[in-house]
Amino acid sequence: MIGLTKKEVALLSEAEARTELIWLADEISRHDDLYYNRSAPVLSDGDYDMLRRRNALIESQFPHLKRIDTPSQRVGASVRGAFPKIQHSQPMLSLDNAFSSKDVTDFVSRLSRFLGLLEGTSVELVAEPKVDGLSASLRYENGIFVLGATRGDGTEGEDVTTNLLTIEDIPKKLHSLDVPKVLEVRGEVHMKKDDFHHLNKIRTRSDEPVFSNPRNAAAGSLRQLDSSITAGRRLHFFAYGWGEILQMDGERQLEYPLGETLIEARSRLSAFGFVLNDPVCVASDVAEIISYYDDIVSNRASLPFDLDGVVYKVNRLDWQSRLGSMSRSPRWAIAHKFPAERAISLVEQITIQVGRMGALTPVAELSPVTIGGVVVSRATLHNEDEVHRKDVRAGDTVVVQRAGDVIPQIVEVVLKKRKKNSQPFVFPQKCPVCGSAATRGSGEAVRRCTGGLVCPAQAIQRLRHFIGRDGFDIEGFGKKQVEEFWHDRLVRTPADIFRLKDQNKTLEARDGWGDVSVRNLLSAIEARRSISLERFIYALGIPQIGQTNARLLARNYGSLKSFTGSMLEAEDVASTAYQNLISIDGVGDQAAARLIGFFLEPHNQEVLAELAEEIDVENFIDAGRKSVVAGKVVVFTGSLSTMTRAEAKAQAQTLGAKVAGSVSNKTDYLVLGAEAGSKLEKARTFDVKILNEKEWRELLGS
Ligand code: IVH
Repeated sequence: MIGLTKKEVALLSEAEARTELIWLADEISRHDDLYYNRSAPVLSDGDYDMLRRRNALIESQFPHLKRIDTPSQRVGASVRGAFPKIQHSQPMLSLDNAFSSKDVTDFVSRLSRFLGLLEGTSVELVAEPKVDGLSASLRYENGIFVLGATRGDGTEGEDVTTNLLTIEDIPKKLHSLDVPKVLEVRGEVHMKKDDFHHLNKIRTRSDEPVFSNPRNAAAGSLRQLDSSITAGRRLHFFAYGWGEILQMDGERQLEYPLGETLIEARSRLSAFGFVLNDPVCVASDVAEIISYYDDIVSNRASLPFDLDGVVYKVNRLDWQSRLGSMSRSPRWAIAHKFPAERAISLVEQITIQVGRMGALTPVAELSPVTIGGVVVSRATLHNEDEVHRKDVRAGDTVVVQRAGDVIPQIVEVVLKKRKKNSQPFVFPQKCPVCGSAATRGSGEAVRRCTGGLVCPAQAIQRLRHFIGRDGFDIEGFGKKQVEEFWHDRLVRTPADIFRLKDQNKTLEARDGWGDVSVRNLLSAIEARRSISLERFIYALGIPQIGQTNARLLARNYGSLKSFTGSMLEAEDVASTAYQNLISIDGVGDQAAARLIGFFLEPHNQEVLAELAEEIDVENFIDAGRKSVVAGKVVVFTGSLSTMTRAEAKAQAQTLGAKVAGSVSNKTDYLVLGAEAGSKLEKARTFDVKILNEKEWRELLGS
């Protein structure tokens, strides 16, 4: 695989420089896209700057090799980290995606099931266009615009108030006297297609690089340090939702409803002076909604702004709040994405990537091609069977597809263009990184390297996962540093990271490092000596334990000590510890097996013991801790009349309770629905509070 060579730029041959510039242009554009458009950066600012610096350096040595798509002249990309950070009062979520009518029908069935609607009761949906821009949150206090932020990672965004003030669509003062004390409006900042073309025309004339699509143009324009530049870019804002809304009742702050339905809330927002996403369609019938979608698909080109789909939302706001949210997206909305865009490209070679758990993934390295405004130079081939099924070979001409946020895929090979001498791809039986045998379990699609931590690819990626954004999140410690430190034996295990402070002098003596960069890295590491339990569990990188499961485990066990102790006890499937583990709603048998396996492995125990010397894992503190049921173990039994079991569980968990599937001596509450069975008997033998549905609701209300 191409990548950064470690060679000094002065020693690069022309061919090497050319190859590296291609790779850098693509890599930087991929990271810009992840950062600006998907709000999901995978590189630290330091690593990203390093890529840009390397690109600039090679260009200065080889000016004649400077590419048309050089990132060195791309606008908007040079201001990363330049705006103050803002914590969102309520998270800015993303949307789940639907790619077909069936996905939409499934979404509607899920809604009915969750809400427990009777046959014949339909869910009214509001469909509106999904504008392709970037989301922003605008805060009004007593009707005055006081703060505007980008989405960032959903929890923390950047303060771009000054730039948002230049957007005409954004009211600086709400157009009504009856305004809540606090109103946060969320919506999409975007650029109209005409303005985008006009801007690019002017830029071409003045020999400036052009933007690849209106979304990038809007993102680049909003993140200007000089707001007079933003002002000249004619950005627009559609309001599509809201965050915190509060009103005063004497001294008390209360939530302030914008209406009973989304349609009512939309007209309130419009009366406040906001522009809304139009046209909308209100319907209960999936066929009607799909016909709205089809209309939008056919009229897409004639609309003044770029869309990437249509959003369906539950109209009743009380139902929206009952449905609530999952970790990243609400249950009450879905984005129906437009069909994938396709292009033709050439497979230059097929490489094998080795994952954190040793999975060998074949990747098609493509001649760079632009699909939907993004340069694509790699596509996943998923696994061994997939390469053989599609019979993709080096040198093949292929159809590549990119849809929304998904990784580009190869749809098919254009067989008539296949070269006569082409050879089928031979999938390696050995790990290309460490040479260990790569084996496939029976019934498994994935071939895995058996090298474990002996394999540099696995070891390095586990470390990367450990310090990654959702784990320890150590600023300035990116992919490149981890690789280098691992190869130089400075960091081989997670605890080594926290012992780097003793290597101060060795670090300062390294190429490209000075006392300032070492100090910055070490202080970023020090800042993470204390970590929340859920982040810690996630950082361990146990298969099947993503953020949601890590949070569930943290909530259930509360402390690291109780968690690790219980995992060891759970080896015995007859133990209460095992029963408790699998009774956590969301943790199935397979995840349980992975967890237990992880904690039984001596090497992992060693890693944990070493880490315990270095760091402090905080006990779980729940946002719902003020609730009376926070930290309590609740079991539901029988059928509930006012809500479905799924809803009851989701609500209890939101309030910080642990929901278990069976009664034990740890159970605090048993909530009885109609026809409760044996759980009631069992609960009577323990000290469990038994509540009927009404009493449970009253308890939550208190
Ligand atoms: S509703 C709770 N409605 O799409 C999530 N989002 O892919 C609320 N977007 O982050 C999102 N048009 O930036 C919603 N009519 C619309 C939208 C819309 C564009 C963006 C928004 C969101 C992203 C998710």
